Amino acid sequence: MTGNELRAKYIEFFKSKNHQEIKGKSLIPENDPTVLFTTAGMHPLVPYILGETHPAGKRLVNFQKCIRTGDIDAVGDPHHLTFFEMLGNWSLGDYFKDEAIRMSFEFLTSSEWLGISIDKLSVTVFDGDENAERDETSAGIWRELGIPEERIYFLPKEDNWWGPAGLTGPCGPDSEMFIDTGREACGPDCKPGCHCGKYFEVWNDVFMQYNKQADGSYKEMERRCVDTGMGIERTSAILQGKQSVYETESFVPLIKEVEKVATVAYGDSEEGDMSVRIITDHVKTSTMILGDEQGVTPSNLGQGYILRRLIRRALRHGRKLGIEGIFLGRIAAKVIEMYSGVYPLLEQKRDFILKELEAEEEKFLKTLQKGEHEFEKILPNLMKSSKRIIPGRLAFKLYDTYGFPIEITEELAAEHDFTVDREGFDTAFKKHQEMSKQGAEKTFKGGLADQSELTTALHTATHLLHKALRTVLGEHVMQKGSNITTDRLRFDFNHPDKLSDEEISRVEAIVNEQIERNLPVTMEIMNLEKAKAEGAIAFFADKYEEQVKVYSIGDFSKEVCGGPHVENTGGMGRFRIVKEQSSSAGVRRIRAVLEKN
Ligand code: ALA
Repeated sequence: MTGNELRAKYIEFFKSKNHQEIKGKSLIPENDPTVLFTTAGMHPLVPYILGETHPAGKRLVNFQKCIRTGDIDAVGDPHHLTFFEMLGNWSLGDYFKDEAIRMSFEFLTSSEWLGISIDKLSVTVFDGDENAERDETSAGIWRELGIPEERIYFLPKEDNWWGPAGLTGPCGPDSEMFIDTGREACGPDCKPGCHCGKYFEVWNDVFMQYNKQADGSYKEMERRCVDTGMGIERTSAILQGKQSVYETESFVPLIKEVEKVATVAYGDSEEGDMSVRIITDHVKTSTMILGDEQGVTPSNLGQGYILRRLIRRALRHGRKLGIEGIFLGRIAAKVIEMYSGVYPLLEQKRDFILKELEAEEEKFLKTLQKGEHEFEKILPNLMKSSKRIIPGRLAFKLYDTYGFPIEITEELAAEHDFTVDREGFDTAFKKHQEMSKQGAEKTFKGGLADQSELTTALHTATHLLHKALRTVLGEHVMQKGSNITTDRLRFDFNHPDKLSDEEISRVEAIVNEQIERNLPVTMEIMNLEKAKAEGAIAFFADKYEEQVKVYSIGDFSKEVCGGPHVENTGGMGRFRIVKEQSSSAGVRRIRAVLEKN
């Protein structure tokens, strides 16, 4: 069963269980400062798990593109990827453990669906600790369904607890499903969760019961939810009887493409194969980032830095395979070909993707030559010491002067049996950051209590800003991107010219006037057509479901949006635009803050 077939079956199964299919979202979380990328299908649904009403109802199903870079060093092994697609079904205050587990079991084992033999299935459940009890309920359901006692494992929080990658937010115990690949156990303690490759995790049912607070405590949620995740690549690999995700149709064509330009063949050496796999993974992820709804380009900050690092790491491994020139574009073109049926935007952004990759490749090849040259120059001196450590300040110089990512310095160092003084590097890096941040805004000192309140207020401010811009500059103004951290909002919109000081002042004045009017913020669910007919602003129209939420801020603004928002505008603080600049051709970017009155 291919990944595409698995995706279709999953959606069909949950639709037959009264779930509504919703669309996946951007890889870049729009209003969530806790993570750089969408790391799981549940991420865009966090506000709904926390209590917001979802316009499509209480039972949802979808697939979501995800990026996880935490395990980047494990990429290339049989099951770690930086980009993957996650299938998920959700209960927003509807069913809980019983129905969730029964549905998972049916989908996995019924001959009508995946038809996996029960003999191959093992499951894990939460062992219990001071925060939550041992999950006998889930274990009991599995037992009843026919999973023998010895294949039900009780594991600690480390294994059987899930929350989003950020520190706060909804979380709870989970129950994970594993398929035994039939490989030899690595030892007497080998069990699901062991990384030897015997057990392949295919699905995770999370029982969202708590909202983890910034102070580390767990607050019981009023409404219990279910969040599940099945990785398409891993699960289809196992269904195809493959030992690795790289042996499936989601990687083989990419590996072939690398082989065409490398001087070595896949299968020649384990080290070379590893490089090939890393390249395919990293180029796929880079293509997905560049081809995402939100435009991210390589840079030294945030998502842009991750993108840069992925591209540069792929290039470095390309050189290990004897590839000298520009080559990422041909692999990216293959990714676009393979995925544009599911993600049509990739095709639309083809030129942009290829152009950005090539520009970064050229830049890096120059950097690499200079940096490697510099590295070779410092090496003989360092060889004189017996320590074989690259001092942090030298690593920082390579980063700062030659644009050498620290990870690449570390890799180069390792190739010469050196290590890098990472602490020294971090210290130099932080000092540099502090200097460049001096004078930067960190203005909201007090007033609103916690992070989610801060971001919520900035979200409401974004709507006010949007409408104010349309009032001052004209109705052509459309949102092109939005991003919120606890410190500031960032808003991209189309407009041909730089804003004058007067225009900026007028926009600020209009927003502040609405804040002072203490307008109520209200929400209504309606279908998209009606929302548009009522004059609600709507963007990325193809991303919306049929039923949408429309937020009104008094009589001033009306926008289709997922929320959340403040209840009243009063008390949001004073709105100030701190920066107005060009973002790309015809697109302006504003950064603004809410300051305490
Ligand atoms: N959110 C859960 C996971 O990513 C399902 O494993």
